[in-house]
Amino acid sequence: MTSRPRDLQTAAPAGYRKPDRGTQPDYFYPPYASTVKRSPTQPLVRLPTTLSEVTGPLFGFEIIKGNDFDLTKQGNGDPIGERIVVSGRVLDANARPVANTLVEVWQANAAGRYPHDRDQHNAPLDPNFPGCGRTLTDDQGRFRFVTIRPGEYPWRNHYNAWRPAHIHFSLFGPAFATRLVTQMYFPGDPLLDYDPMYLSIADERARQRLISTFDWETTIPETALGYKFDIILRGRDETPMDNYLPG
Ligand SMILES: [Fe+2]
Repeated sequence: MTSRPRDLQTAAPAGYRKPDRGTQPDYFYPPYASTVKRSPTQPLVRLPTTLSEVTGPLFGFEIIKGNDFDLTKQGNGDPIGERIVVSGRVLDANARPVANTLVEVWQANAAGRYPHDRDQHNAPLDPNFPGCGRTLTDDQGRFRFVTIRPGEYPWRNHYNAWRPAHIHFSLFGPAFATRLVTQMYFPGDPLLDYDPMYLSIADERARQRLISTFDWETTIPETALGYKFDIILRGRDETPMDNYLPG
């Protein structure tokens, strides 16, 4: 067995390939009004990541309680709405499972309302539905949430603008600097064709990766429909992320 040349032994690990053009949300997409002000007007400056930024600080596993995965059990009673099961896997570019990673979700209630001061639209709050959950992936990269199907809600981006039903996902990774955020949609939602957040991903196949699929296997008889949503961190089938930084 031959040893590797010294320069290869000491070289930094190879960087990741950039996502294909159009497979992540455009920074500047005028139909999505807030991108006009927040998109960069100057060339991006790459900041080298230091070791401490990718190794910590780390959340403590002990903050996750046993029923945090079940958003229907966070109040004193049952929340209103259609119960669903959302499950999937977190996979790397080579389809290997990403184990023990924190997956968090947040969403509107069945009426399309968030329990947040800034959400004042005319739909009822549900005292039994705070709308947040979290879990860790298992050794196969799997996660599973029980929740309520979220309602669509208006958002004033343009005339008669309504967000398609969606669940926000955050993957924490090993440190704050590695956090990824995305949204999951539902199959057959007619609002997707009108949603500039969804349409800001130019590549149709890429944006369709954000649509969950109905899953008979995880559907619970008499109780809840199952939806599958796999999240792929890198590579050709990479999941579009809200916080994509080009360059
Ligand atoms: Fe939302």
